Amino acid sequence: METILLDDNEADLIRAAELITKGGVVGIPTETVYGLGADASNPVAVKRIFEAKGRPADNPLIVHLADFSEAKKYTSSIPELAYRIAEKFCPGPLTIVLPKNGSIPMITSGGLDTVGIRIPSHRVMHRIIELSGCPIAAPSANTSGLPSPTSASHVMDDMAGKIEAVVDGGQSEFGVESTVISVENESSVRILRPGCVTREMLLEVCGDVIIDHAILHELEAGQTAASPGMKYKHYSPKADVVMVEGNISSFTEYVKNYMESGVYSLIYDCDADYFPYRYMTYGSNSSEQAHWLFRRLRELDETGAKKVFVRAPSSDGVGLAVYNRLIRAAGFEVIRL
Ligand code: TXA
Ligand code: MG
Repeated sequence: METILLDDNEADLIRAAELITKGGVVGIPTETVYGLGADASNPVAVKRIFEAKGRPADNPLIVHLADFSEAKKYTSSIPELAYRIAEKFCPGPLTIVLPKNGSIPMITSGGLDTVGIRIPSHRVMHRIIELSGCPIAAPSANTSGLPSPTSASHVMDDMAGKIEAVVDGGQSEFGVESTVISVENESSVRILRPGCVTREMLLEVCGDVIIDHAILHELEAGQTAASPGMKYKHYSPKADVVMVEGNISSFTEYVKNYMESGVYSLIYDCDADYFPYRYMTYGSNSSEQAHWLFRRLRELDETGAKKVFVRAPSSDGVGLAVYNRLIRAAGFEVIRL
């Protein structure tokens, strides 16, 4: 199959929406990362998403809608707290897990009786949902296990020949996937995957915000994940990633012992002036690091890096999302100096 590259003009968005209503799969930009979109209510189309990604069947897909008021069509009940959260953060980089109804096929929800609902703010994704009139199931548009794509060319790298089209909407703004939450009770939520809607932001509307254990810890044998995606190795480039926690002088001292060909460091922009070894940088604050992380992991692969020492990000605020992706890319290998 030839994968066509579409632009973000209205004529091309109409084309993308038509492909989706006919059961096709299209790479679509969102404000977080690029998604692999298909009609969420069409099990045959959704199956093609799983095949294109090589995704395990028990990992559910997020359903994207134009407005939160549409969520009642696909869910069996919506707690009051979910409405208050949606009022504040939707559209935006947030997914709310709710009990699903029969209009979402089991293949879409990975066999669960819940569905993650997200209202994307990106103009292109929003317009394609409107034009197609479908709820759009969309996981990140990477091959399963690889870093999520933040540009149309990343999607082409992973998906060319497997899907109908990719819409080019430029570089993703946030760079990490949405915050995924479930509603625990009338006043508290649980973060299943951290993103750019942070715990601190959610506390403005919730009495309590629990950080799920699986966000920072490896699941032990026999433990089940509240969010199935958390049990898989993830976000990994081909290179071996090692996360190193410490200031730049102890980091430099540590990596000195490992310098050989194919070894790179991923450090903060502000570290670069005095760093004597091969490196790339990924920003200086958490939002910049979220924006650049996946792009840099892909670039490190392109340069043929064999091993990458990453100067660990802060785990505060948006930093928790960056830390969570990196600790998985590193297979939980963290050196604390
Ligand atoms: O920003 C995003 O969320 C992007 C864009 C394209 O919207 N999508 C995305 O989808 O990251 P995906 O499939 O790559 O990651 C979805 C995560 C997975 O870890 C999955 O296990 C979890 O959300 N998830 C989805 N539905 C769930 C549910 N019903 N219950 C628990 N976790 C769920
Ligand atoms: Mg993903």
